[in-house]
Amino acid sequence: MDAQLLADTLPKFPDFPPGEVWLAGAGPGDPGLLTLHTLHALQTADDIVHDALVDPRILKLAGNQAKLIFAGKRGGRPSSEQGDINELLIERARMQHRVLRLKGGDPFVFGRGGEEALALTRAGVRFRIIPGITSGLAAAALAGIPATMRDINHAVILMAGSRSADRASIAEWERLASVGQPIIVYMPMSNLPEIMSAFERGGMGRDTPAVIISSASTSDEQIVETSLSKAAADAERQGICAPAIVIVGAIAGMRQKLLSNMACE
Ligand SMILES: C[S@@+](CC[C@H](N)C(=O)[O-])C[C@H]1O[C@@H](n2cnc3c(N)ncnc32)[C@H](O)[C@@H]1O
Repeated sequence: MDAQLLADTLPKFPDFPPGEVWLAGAGPGDPGLLTLHTLHALQTADDIVHDALVDPRILKLAGNQAKLIFAGKRGGRPSSEQGDINELLIERARMQHRVLRLKGGDPFVFGRGGEEALALTRAGVRFRIIPGITSGLAAAALAGIPATMRDINHAVILMAGSRSADRASIAEWERLASVGQPIIVYMPMSNLPEIMSAFERGGMGRDTPAVIISSASTSDEQIVETSLSKAAADAERQGICAPAIVIVGAIAGMRQKLLSNMACE
């Protein structure tokens, strides 16, 4: 591609006006997986309200004028309540700041981005959405697991595993497994044994391939190849901790077929 064609093809970045909030995704961790729009937002924002899953390498890309405000729910620091985060975004926008609300992955996939957009709408604050690469699909692809394969599946389920393992959740996990499509479970770690048992009762075979991936695209990445019935024990044995996703279904078995020729460092 020649330089002019490249320049013509790259995005014409929108203005980031004072008083606006941009809800953006930072991807799974590796700064190379940021979108150019999010990079532009990082360099233009006055306030960057970020969660715990935004990789420190990405925060280093912020402009010098930017104030970094942690509003996460992990990392040993006190939790921010969602209502407080909504209020913070509204307050900063009303101060005529350019406010970047930066989240890991995609802001609209298990990221409370929808709730925040609704709160901004109700408060009359203008906002823009910048999608990010969601961690479940990025982690799968980086591990050599296609989300779909023509001969394997025509759908893939993204599921949150964080709700308490009460009867309603367990019934829902069983129903999702009964659909017969692979499932990518976000936030699985606190309920992993219960989720895997529910998938089995829902009709998934005990030997169904499963791959657990933690901290995908970072130097702490760990990948465990296992099966539905062994996933919980293997995760414990290998000391897997959050953030992690679990992929259950025939697509997970593709990793073994692709690994030998795949560059992955
Ligand atoms: C609150 S959800 C946010 C998801 C995010 N909005 C996205 O689209 O990826 C947090 C969960 O995302 C998953 N996650 C985020 N980053 C990850 C990573 N680098 N590797 C594996 N899982 C990750 C984990 O399941 C984690 O518990």
